[in-house]
Amino acid sequence: MDVHDLLSNLDQVPEAKRQAVINNGGGHANHSLFWSIMSPNGGELGGEIAAAITSTFGSHEAAKEQFVTAATTRFGSGWAWLVLGDSGLEIYSTANQDSPIMQGHTPLLGVDVWEHAYYLKYQNLRPAYVEAWTNVINWTRVNELYIANA
Ligand SMILES: [Fe+2]
Repeated sequence: MDVHDLLSNLDQVPEAKRQAVINNGGGHANHSLFWSIMSPNGGELGGEIAAAITSTFGSHEAAKEQFVTAATTRFGSGWAWLVLGDSGLEIYSTANQDSPIMQGHTPLLGVDVWEHAYYLKYQNLRPAYVEAWTNVINWTRVNELYIANA
């Protein structure tokens, strides 16, 4: 199975190995997306994803605020996400290396809020890291993912 199929079919993994598969498979899927949706020049939020964000959350600013809140209030290690969920865009966070794919959702954008992602530069200042991170989102790529899966 590729990692998407694996995380979509965890009930087929023996229970004794399931958490290890989630930790490592989820970690692989989450970080693979993470590297692909960051860029120093990823462009402005635009295209179809911009319109979908406005219609779902009211405004880009409201969506950003919800995303930052999800990222900064996740207790301990985890991720904050913009996903294509059961009925459109959703913002939430997951613990540890849990992936939105595990609940049938398509992650479009995710920020790593494990301490290892920010401690060297930001120490314990997760909000400053998340705020800075929003400036390096590759919106061109996120828009492509949205169009491919919407
Ligand atoms: Fe990480």
